[in-house]
Amino acid sequence: MTTILRTIAEVRAWRGQLPAAHRVAFVPTMGALHVGHMSLVHLARDRADVTIASIFVNPLQFGPTEDLGKYPRPIENDLALLDAAAVGAVFLPSVHELCPDGASTFVVEESVSRHLCGAVRPGHFRGVATIVLKLFNIVSPHLAVFGQKDAQQCAVIERMVRDLNLRIEIVRGPIVRESDGLALSSRNVYLDAAARAAASTIFASLEAARQAFAGGERNAVALAAIGRSVLAAKPLIELQYWEVRHPESLEEIETVGPSGALLAVAAYLGSTRLIDNLTINPA
Ligand code: PAJ
Repeated sequence: MTTILRTIAEVRAWRGQLPAAHRVAFVPTMGALHVGHMSLVHLARDRADVTIASIFVNPLQFGPTEDLGKYPRPIENDLALLDAAAVGAVFLPSVHELCPDGASTFVVEESVSRHLCGAVRPGHFRGVATIVLKLFNIVSPHLAVFGQKDAQQCAVIERMVRDLNLRIEIVRGPIVRESDGLALSSRNVYLDAAARAAASTIFASLEAARQAFAGGERNAVALAAIGRSVLAAKPLIELQYWEVRHPESLEEIETVGPSGALLAVAAYLGSTRLIDNLTINPA
């Protein structure tokens, strides 16, 4: 049975009674768990003696007009999935304990966070980095697993770990997709049938650029133009960005060099915002 931990004191007590030699893996989530999340749980389990997940819809990372209130919270189903995956413990913090009124200390990563989603969601990565550092401090894991689905989030967390000398290994799990290429996301439940059908074009646009890259195209502007043109044909999709960036710094690049590139896209389907990405590497 997965142990349910609701307070910071309970997590510390659970953590404290583990054998000192045990490697502890941590998978932070906001719940509404799907196969993508569970793939991270399996990665964690493969690399550690015990796995702890967290489910916390983090108010700090939602903007004032975003979907905090309506974010899906199917907690019973989530707990059943974690239990079936033999996760050791799950932390379900309360908002008042994790984000108490009057807190005035935050983690601001100032470089990677400026780009892509950071440019259009002010304060988002400050909210992510702050809560993830708090969770790291509470759970004290040896390693933590994050999904490549949120490539910029991975880059921000890796930078925070480096810059703040955290002794935590960060593992990136690959993106899990539906059969038509749509990346699994807790927000996919918001899509109606027409939007769901159109949504697979996001992956198709990334694939089109990847194919052009495989065919020898190295110019970032040209690759982005190819990806954007695939989405331009779809009236239901309102593109927010489609960018070719350095895979770690997320800075703009002119040509795809030896370190490869991140192809990153964000688009609205109605009021639902979806993100996706692909990494391309020279052979
Ligand atoms: P959430 O959106 O619930 O995602 C939890 C983890 O699952 C993240 O690391 C995310 O990248 C990963 N994930 C989501 N969809 C995936 C997919 N299709 N394939 C593989 N991995 C996928 O990301 C967050 O929560 C929050 O920002 C959090 C890190 C918990 C901090 O609040």
